[in-house]
Amino acid sequence: MSKVEPVFDDTQSESGEGTITLYDASAFAGMHKAGRLAAQALDMLVEHVLPGVTTEALDELIMEFAQQHDAIPATLNYRGYTKAICTSVNHVVCHGIPGPKALREGDIVNIDVTLIVNGWHGDTSRMFAVGAVPRKAERLIDVTYEAMQRGIAAVKPGHTTGHIGAAIQKFAEAERCSVVREFCGHGLGRHFHERPNILHYGVEGDGVVLKPGMIFTIEPMINLGRASVKVLPDGWTAVTRDRQLSAQFEHSVGVTEEGCEVFTLSPKGYHCPPYAAG
Ligand code: MF3
Ligand code: CO
Ligand code: CO
Repeated sequence: MSKVEPVFDDTQSESGEGTITLYDASAFAGMHKAGRLAAQALDMLVEHVLPGVTTEALDELIMEFAQQHDAIPATLNYRGYTKAICTSVNHVVCHGIPGPKALREGDIVNIDVTLIVNGWHGDTSRMFAVGAVPRKAERLIDVTYEAMQRGIAAVKPGHTTGHIGAAIQKFAEAERCSVVREFCGHGLGRHFHERPNILHYGVEGDGVVLKPGMIFTIEPMINLGRASVKVLPDGWTAVTRDRQLSAQFEHSVGVTEEGCEVFTLSPKGYHCPPYAAG
């Protein structure tokens, strides 16, 4: 089995081998601003994710939104990636590249945006349903959202990254879904991808001990079928090997004395589909 590169690390050696940055209150304020803007960008897309729209049109909307708000999409020119968002449709697990193909009624799509505001990275993604979607797709979206929430609820000082992974894995597998192993959450802040890695499976007590000031993402990818994925020849697009549906949500969070703060909450309350009221 070929293994996919598990995670990026953009910190070079400046913070030292294996160091995890503990951020202060002003960093948390910066992350709140960046996270909120990234969430607002996803809110803005809600009315545009419709049958017939292309994923590259959604990418252009985010480019404009970023320009208007003095933000930079972190994925632009990141390791050769040339778009402002990732758009992962149906059996695409993550890192789908926006293109000329139109969304169709019944598709589900993850849209992942990272905006840099004053040097801080707000990284978040949500699922969108294109018109009416099959019941099993709705169920997968609900399971994936709840899995992320269980992971977030496990964040507190003294717990480890393993508590987060265990909470996600237990819930997802009890729902007869599987957890993608090849991609994980990541530290972030001044950089897009820092230490620690946040695995979405594992054992309570394993991994890194959580401390106030740590900032990272929780972004489980959950499959209806088997966990196994492969990356297409474009070098980015990850798909399920069995071509069954995959879903993902992502929040950026900071560890506090009591638990955590979520930086990327939707200002409009668009947490999980359906987003349009009624
Ligand atoms: N936003 C993705 C994440 O959650 C990373 C995308 S990297 C890209 O970490 F280059 F594919 F855009
Ligand atoms: Co991320
Ligand atoms: Co992301």
